[in-house]
Amino acid sequence: RMLKRQMLCRLDIDWLNAAFLAIYESLVPLEEETAKQKQFFMLLEKLVSKEWPEARLYLYGSCANSFGVSKSDIDVCLAIEDAEINKSEVLLKLADILQSDNFQNVQALTRARVPIVKLMEPVSGISCDICLNNVLAVVNTKLLRDYAQIDVRLRQLAFIVKHWAKSRGVNATYQGTLSSYAYVLMCIHFLQQRRPAILPCLQEMGTTYSIIVDDIQCAYFDQVEKLHGFGSRNKETIAQLVWAFFNYWAYRHDYANAVISVRTGSILSKREKDWTRRIGNDRHLICIEDPFEISHDLGRVVDKFSIKVLREEFERAADIMQYDPNPCVTLFEPY
Ligand code: GTP
Ligand code: MG
Repeated sequence: RMLKRQMLCRLDIDWLNAAFLAIYESLVPLEEETAKQKQFFMLLEKLVSKEWPEARLYLYGSCANSFGVSKSDIDVCLAIEDAEINKSEVLLKLADILQSDNFQNVQALTRARVPIVKLMEPVSGISCDICLNNVLAVVNTKLLRDYAQIDVRLRQLAFIVKHWAKSRGVNATYQGTLSSYAYVLMCIHFLQQRRPAILPCLQEMGTTYSIIVDDIQCAYFDQVEKLHGFGSRNKETIAQLVWAFFNYWAYRHDYANAVISVRTGSILSKREKDWTRRIGNDRHLICIEDPFEISHDLGRVVDKFSIKVLREEFERAADIMQYDPNPCVTLFEPY
């Protein structure tokens, strides 16, 4: 009877695994879409180089970090080295140029926390945000993309987690919940912590890539093609990992003391980071260290109300993974 139960259980897991993989596949953008984004980007490059021949344009965020689901907006960074520039002027100028090139809904948001130009491309309906000199975001985009190449389970897990967060309304920093970037870091950290580990800690390995951005040294091992098969001793499936991820954030994470750190591949204490007190608006109720801007807590946006919402959502997800007969439907039910 024992054997029968084990087999039933296994079957169950295979079935669940297939269901999660199907969700993942349905979220991955088609090549056609990626090609359109590239085209759109090249058009932008052309327009920009006419006005600012020295400038460079970079894709960043989910269209470049390999964690973008189908129909995501694209994030572009305009990098101009000249230290003398006036940011607002440049953005207004850029908006002008785009407007006269028939882009729709061009808006320069010069007073936003991160000033941007927003626009839409009429044919494909692609929406795009262009920011100025946010090179750190370009570099952390590369870090995420490099991690994604080591083990496919990272991309699978992050897609499921992002999809869950969007469905459940806990992916909005302006409402005190977490950014997609924060969720991906949580996934990377989680896979670094599995035993055997599924991901290494690239910033603790010999440096093969190094750049200084805004006085911050960004250095890590980026020859990830040499790390294929790194996690192959760990046989956990995506269904098991989704279960364990939510279980960790629902019942195991030490919210009072712990900081998760992709940079060190470990858990740090709030005390050693001096993140024990509320300073200004930073409350440190859930602590996620940025891998490069190490004084930056991606959980800083979370307040005493939204922490409750978040933790209840983690618990709900963990309980569904544990008990629900059809978790891959219930998990993503709109809130
Ligand atoms: P979706 O648009 O939701 O699919 O995800 P996304 O990956 O584009 O994430 P998001 O819109 O949260 O952020 C876009 C990019 O901005 C991220 O990939 C990071 O490179 C960068 N970014 C976002 N938030 C922060 C932050 O707090 N600090 C830093 N340094 N970079 C950030
Ligand atoms: Mg984005």
